[in-house]
Amino acid sequence: LINAWSSDGEPLFASIAISGIAFAFTYGLIRWTGDVFIKRGYKGRDMSKKNAVVIPEAMGLVCALVYLLAIVNFLPFAFKRDIVEVTTGGGNKDAVLEAQDIEMGRFLHRFPLEKLASYGFAYGTLASVTILGILDDSFDMRWRHKFFIPAFAALPMLALYFVDFGVTHVVVPLPLRKYMGELIDLGGLYYLYMAAVAIFCPNCINILAGINGIEVGQSLVIALLIALNDMLYLLPSVHQPHPAADSHLFSIYLLLPFIGVSLALLKHNWYPAKVFVGDTYCYFAGMVFAVVGILGHFSKTLLLLFIPQIFNFVYSVPQLIGIVPCPRHRLPHFNARTGLLEPSVATFSNEKPLRPIVGAVLKLLGKAKLLRVQTDKDGRVIETTNLTILNLWLVWRGPLREDRLAAEILVMQSLCGLLGLWVRHSLASLLFTA
Ligand code: UD1
Ligand code: MG
Repeated sequence: LINAWSSDGEPLFASIAISGIAFAFTYGLIRWTGDVFIKRGYKGRDMSKKNAVVIPEAMGLVCALVYLLAIVNFLPFAFKRDIVEVTTGGGNKDAVLEAQDIEMGRFLHRFPLEKLASYGFAYGTLASVTILGILDDSFDMRWRHKFFIPAFAALPMLALYFVDFGVTHVVVPLPLRKYMGELIDLGGLYYLYMAAVAIFCPNCINILAGINGIEVGQSLVIALLIALNDMLYLLPSVHQPHPAADSHLFSIYLLLPFIGVSLALLKHNWYPAKVFVGDTYCYFAGMVFAVVGILGHFSKTLLLLFIPQIFNFVYSVPQLIGIVPCPRHRLPHFNARTGLLEPSVATFSNEKPLRPIVGAVLKLLGKAKLLRVQTDKDGRVIETTNLTILNLWLVWRGPLREDRLAAEILVMQSLCGLLGLWVRHSLASLLFTA
């Protein structure tokens, strides 16, 4: 680590070391501060246990704070040389050092000072989303009120994009080029798209939730998949710099400490959970992904790694917009007799019956095994399983123990993500390069 402080060190090693320290810090802090959180009222009841235990909530706050500290401490490692150069005013020093780097085969080493802006705004965005997450955990906001929270936090990042890159055109796939040309400028729509990504990533993690370990687990899987994608660009860069290497280096530097703090949280949050992560963690994690995807210019690849979350979101829409009634909690139902989780249900009272067309669609989905419905003797739908991927998985697989369900979902998610990356790297070249 000390060697890394000098300008000959490789920042990647410093990042790995800092991430390890961040892991240890987070692990200890969560353990030591749990009681304080409970005393302050940040606590929740684990609904899927026999003796409904009360454990600390909003522990993602510890993760987010340690993470922000880690990012700041990493700055000197990534930028020190350029800062020295600027303050001493030496014009050639950079060129000499670059030649030295090339001679010693350190292509990943250099990081231009302009990137500092990306870092600063990434930091600002993540700090704002943490503040907003604390608000949510403190006041337990309604879903429809908190949905747009991440958009406010994303403003610094969108502003930087406007000032720094301003690139709002996208490459048109080969088959459509005859009609639309090679590039198409989306203008303001592109900003809407980025805001949508920033709103979507945090929220979709927050609604794929409710069993021990699933919020952190899915975030770790996504982080590791993005890191794998980054490595596909960085490893070849050791011999020959790839044009996108800088963006992926930026992404890796933001992800490694995230993986560190999240692993520490997972150790406490995995079944049987000692702490809950809170909405702070879900927003923070989702925003880390939005930031690296948008400022690293790979937001489309990012979405390929969110396939289960996108499915869960689309599947949830009828409940989110209120066509089908949505209870406060949609997490799977714990059967105290068997100790297993079963799909939870939404029931429709006689005063507020379902509209016939909605009932018909639900019955159709039930026939397609995409949910389970109960009908009364007149054939009217009186109950349906809640529209989440966790409940759907239980409809398909039958009752499961909580940790088993979490593990199966994470394996399914990893496979979807690897498939997404394969599509990205093999099929995309067919669509976009002549
Ligand atoms: C989201 C979901 C909600 C789900 C909840 C569970 C939507 C629109 N909202 O709401 O359906 O029930 O997450 O996190 O889909 N809890 C457990 N075991 C766990 C995790 C959480 O029992 O492993 C319970 C605890 O009582 C905890 C509470 O869920 O206190 C946290 O819920 P919160 O994160 O505030 O719910 P939302 O994010 O609003
Ligand atoms: Mg939540």
